[in-house]
Amino acid sequence: MVDLSQAGTFPLAGRTVNRMGYGAMQLAGPGVFGPPRDRVEALAVLRAAVEAGVNHIDTSDFYGPHVTNQILREALHPYPDDLLIVTKVGAVRGQDGAWLAAQSPEDLTRAVHDNLRNLGLERLDLVNLRLMGDIHEPSEGPLDEQFATLARLRDEGLIGHLGLSNVTPAQVRQAQAIAPVACVQNQYNLVHRADDALVDDLALQGIAYVPFFPLGGFSPIQSDALSAIAGELAVSPMQLALAWLLARSPNLLLIPGTSRRAHLFENLAAAELALTAETRARLDRIAAA
Ligand SMILES: NC(=O)c1ccc[n+]([C@@H]2O[C@H](COP(=O)([O-])OP(=O)(O)OC[C@H]3O[C@@H](n4cnc5c(N)ncnc54)[C@H](OP(=O)(O)O)[C@@H]3O)[C@@H](O)[C@H]2O)c1
Repeated sequence: MVDLSQAGTFPLAGRTVNRMGYGAMQLAGPGVFGPPRDRVEALAVLRAAVEAGVNHIDTSDFYGPHVTNQILREALHPYPDDLLIVTKVGAVRGQDGAWLAAQSPEDLTRAVHDNLRNLGLERLDLVNLRLMGDIHEPSEGPLDEQFATLARLRDEGLIGHLGLSNVTPAQVRQAQAIAPVACVQNQYNLVHRADDALVDDLALQGIAYVPFFPLGGFSPIQSDALSAIAGELAVSPMQLALAWLLARSPNLLLIPGTSRRAHLFENLAAAELALTAETRARLDRIAAA
């Protein structure tokens, strides 16, 4: 079995988690809408992840909606003591599957209660405020009211820690003036590195950066250079993309998503893949190409 400790650990929300985690979004149906194609496999993926040592799982009640959290609950409740489930609020789904902003105090409060109910929890360990400026890219805009609402729910005991998703560096600073920020979850991967400076700044502050789309998202990264280097090392391109992230900065916590155990095991095995400085330099050049 893979040894996840090879990739190290990082403090998150008052715990210490393995840097190699799992993102549950792919467990809902196509387009993250409706039930999964294969519910039995979805349950098996989650159980296999935890059995392999994953203790950081990312989710949201707007995956499905509700579906992913309900599968998580069915697969893993009562949850292991060391498992950190991180969720996010700030959106709802339209009848057609559209991703719609839902950021009023009432929306956010409802979303926290939806997560509590569907996950079967009395307190959410860590909730990210997901800003919806642009769907996959942050854009400037106010977050004070939203973050203050979550801070209030934290003070009431419904939430342990707060994080942010799809935010700019300025928005991180705005939020930090209201309450501590435990993590930032933005799009970042081998070929999408707009957040390089933010990753480094958060590392200096000891704050986790959790890249979404670590493999490139719905269309995983395709790069001849990546495939060539992976071939030389006898690993898969996806493993190499994850190993590059692990090597990039110690505050990067990975949550690759998959709906299949075969891909799960392949991805987790990247925790054991150490890269030479030369390989890292070659991978670094891919984004610039
Ligand atoms: N905060 C946000 O706004 C936000 C946005 C997006 C995602 N997220 C979170 O980030 C997590 C990761 O993102 P993601 O799942 O969207 O994208 P991802 O991890 O970059 O890639 C997932 C895609 O790659 C495929 N895949 C996974 N492992 C593979 C492998 N070894 N070989 C080939 N294909 C593979 C998956 O398909 P299969 O199912 O067929 O393996 C799926 O299509 C999500 O699960 C979610 O928790 C957050």
